[in-house]
Amino acid sequence: MFTFFLNFIFTFAAFIPNGRFFHSSVLIDNKLYFSGGYNDSLGIITNEFFYLDVSKPLETTNNSSIQWVDLTYTGGPLKTETTACIGGKNNDIIFIFGGYSHTSQYFVNQFDTSEQQWINIASVGNVPTNRNYTSCANFNNRSIAIFSGYSSINDFWIFNTLTQSWSLGNTTNAPPSRCAYYAITLPDENILYIGGVSGINITVYMPMNNFTSGPTPPVRDSFSAVLTSDERIIIFGGSYETTNLGDLWILDITKFQWSIGNILNPITNLTLQGHTATLVDNYMFVSFGEFSIGNLSSRIFMLDVSRKDSYRWVTEFTPT
Ligand SMILES: *[C@@H]1O[C@H](CO)[C@@H](O)[C@H](O)[C@H]1NC(C)=O
Ligand SMILES: *[C@@H]1O[C@H](CO)[C@@H](O)[C@H](O)[C@H]1NC(C)=O
Ligand SMILES: *[C@@H]1O[C@H](CO)[C@@H](O)[C@H](O)[C@H]1NC(C)=O
Ligand SMILES: *[C@@H]1O[C@H](CO)[C@@H](O)[C@H](O)[C@H]1NC(C)=O
Ligand SMILES: *[C@@H]1O[C@H](CO)[C@@H](O)[C@H](O)[C@H]1NC(C)=O
Ligand SMILES: *[C@@H]1O[C@H](CO)[C@@H](O)[C@H](O)[C@H]1NC(C)=O
Ligand SMILES: *[C@@H]1O[C@H](CO)[C@@H](O)[C@H](O)[C@H]1NC(C)=O
Ligand SMILES: *[C@@H]1O[C@H](CO)[C@@H](O)[C@H](O)[C@H]1NC(C)=O
Ligand SMILES: *[C@@H]1O[C@H](CO)[C@@H](O)[C@H](O)[C@H]1NC(C)=O
Ligand SMILES: *[C@@H]1O[C@H](CO)[C@@H](O)[C@H](O)[C@H]1NC(C)=O
Repeated sequence: MFTFFLNFIFTFAAFIPNGRFFHSSVLIDNKLYFSGGYNDSLGIITNEFFYLDVSKPLETTNNSSIQWVDLTYTGGPLKTETTACIGGKNNDIIFIFGGYSHTSQYFVNQFDTSEQQWINIASVGNVPTNRNYTSCANFNNRSIAIFSGYSSINDFWIFNTLTQSWSLGNTTNAPPSRCAYYAITLPDENILYIGGVSGINITVYMPMNNFTSGPTPPVRDSFSAVLTSDERIIIFGGSYETTNLGDLWILDITKFQWSIGNILNPITNLTLQGHTATLVDNYMFVSFGEFSIGNLSSRIFMLDVSRKDSYRWVTEFTPT
């Protein structure tokens, strides 16, 4: 009876999210979760929390084929500029770190996707100061790394998701402080920190070519990055000063060589910052974000990334 009742609500009270940016997102068990962000260009922060079911085919041009499930009622955090990673014994827990809010918030919020329940983790002992615009990275089986952030030094923190405890990492040879960068854990467990701006002077952009070869992507912040199983990092969009970007770049991590991503069917004037990108099968789902100042995206764009030499926007997704 109870299950039937929930299915009834989810099926018929269609939830279609409005535009938002600087939200966070993770994929667990064919559900692409989204939390918080600004859902208004005037700086309104939202506590909306929902997922997109990617276990079923969808067509981005047909709203009724896009299965959104609203979980805001579970009481998620009212935060923007957060970062989210998965963890816990079964890798079914979402951890949301840092961020900015008009009210006081916990530094770590965790959502157990199996129990559908939030737990705010009280910060005790040696813990990071609150910070925003970071990018978390999973490493060392169930740990998460947090580096630097807005108005932070270049400190490096390790969060053990099994014990929910923090420790400070070794920052010998650490790069300068930064925020609005993107972190990617490589197959060899090194974490690559890409781009962003200085955490102590946001007018200073971080280089994109500090040990890479090939052409160099223009510097940027608030972009997205995904890692493919065949060792390509694909970055998209972001912003430079007050201009949003829409270019695609590929980093071959076997050679640490950049190249421009060739999109066969580019979308005219598609620029985004503060969006998220997630790899689902061979598709990069580019979700929400700010097209241009005052114009927020409520859309999902899907890029077919199955080929190394050419990329293609698609409107239909069929899970494999
Ligand atoms: C923004 O999110 C809040 C909930 O946090 C909601 O009440 C409000 O309607 C949303 N605004 C828009 C424009 O969707
Ligand atoms: C889908 O829903 C969004 C948000 O309500 C709306 O802006 C858009 O026009 C709809 N698209 C189609 C094809 O109906
Ligand atoms: C839109 O999607 C719904 C649900 O999957 C489907 O029933 C409907 O036929 C689709 N409409 C079009 C025009 O393809
Ligand atoms: C990773 O951690 C999980 C949870 O503690 C454990 O079950 C698994 O065996 C570990 N995997 C490896 C490769 O150590
Ligand atoms: C987060 O960023 C905003 C700018 O968007 C800044 O004003 C605020 O102080 C930052 N908060 C923290 C905790 O760093
Ligand atoms: C930190 O790393 C450096 C370089 O790898 C090493 O020399 C140093 O001993 C480490 N410090 C600690 C406290 O582990
Ligand atoms: C470039 O990388 C080296 C270590 O490989 C580091 O010492 C240096 O600070 C980095 N510079 C920037 C601007 O990230
Ligand atoms: C921030 O960096 C810019 C560009 O390098 C420089 O002109 C400015 O003085 C710096 N501001 C501070 C507060 O250091
Ligand atoms: C694309 O942007 C340019 C420059 O802002 C503008 O002139 C042009 O009208 C735009 N094209 C479309 C199709 O919106
Ligand atoms: C917002 O940007 C999108 C994507 O470039 C564009 O299609 C749309 O017309 C813009 N809306 C407004 C109100 O400028």
